[in-house]
Amino acid sequence: MDAARPFASAAFAETLINAMEAKNPYLRGHSQRVADIAASTAEVMGLSPDVVEQVRLAGGLHDIGKIGIREAVLDKPGPLDPDEYAHVKDHVRIGLEILAPMGHLGPVLDFIRDHHERLDGSGYPSGISGEAISLGGRILAVADTFDALTSKRAYRDSRTGRETLGYMRSLVGTSLFPDVFDALQRVVEQRRSLVFLG
Ligand SMILES: [Fe+2]
Ligand SMILES: [Fe+2]
Repeated sequence: MDAARPFASAAFAETLINAMEAKNPYLRGHSQRVADIAASTAEVMGLSPDVVEQVRLAGGLHDIGKIGIREAVLDKPGPLDPDEYAHVKDHVRIGLEILAPMGHLGPVLDFIRDHHERLDGSGYPSGISGEAISLGGRILAVADTFDALTSKRAYRDSRTGRETLGYMRSLVGTSLFPDVFDALQRVVEQRRSLVFLG
């Protein structure tokens, strides 16, 4: 790989994220937080520094396809109807189309493709399950769920980290992978103790 390439990718990724976040205030900061939580989770799981950086980049870019989703749907202050939900789900396909020229990102694209897949096959876009889901995709899924639930959205207020972990625990074994959830919990607890100490 050309030495300038990883840097060019990171700067270009940041540009894309800025474009997406300029579009919607509720997405502002989400990508950065998911990148950060996902990378820490990957680290706690003992993954290599290269994979940790791939997970971080995928976290930053995971929702890039939301650029292609209508604002009226993204900002809707109530539950989505089936057509609107189908439109939101399309952000995964749109994201991969946007990123197609960056094929050299390899596994990063697989992680993004899998960020809404679930352990029991109840996710999208492919409905794959278990081991068929890339490890990075499983990590993004827990980080994304945690951040989505702890952030304020158009349709509801935020929950605390503790409430969110309690809720997510009820999804372990069905939609969330136990080992990845345990690692996320360690990351959240470590941060909470740092806040207390600080
Ligand atoms: Fe997403
Ligand atoms: Fe997300």
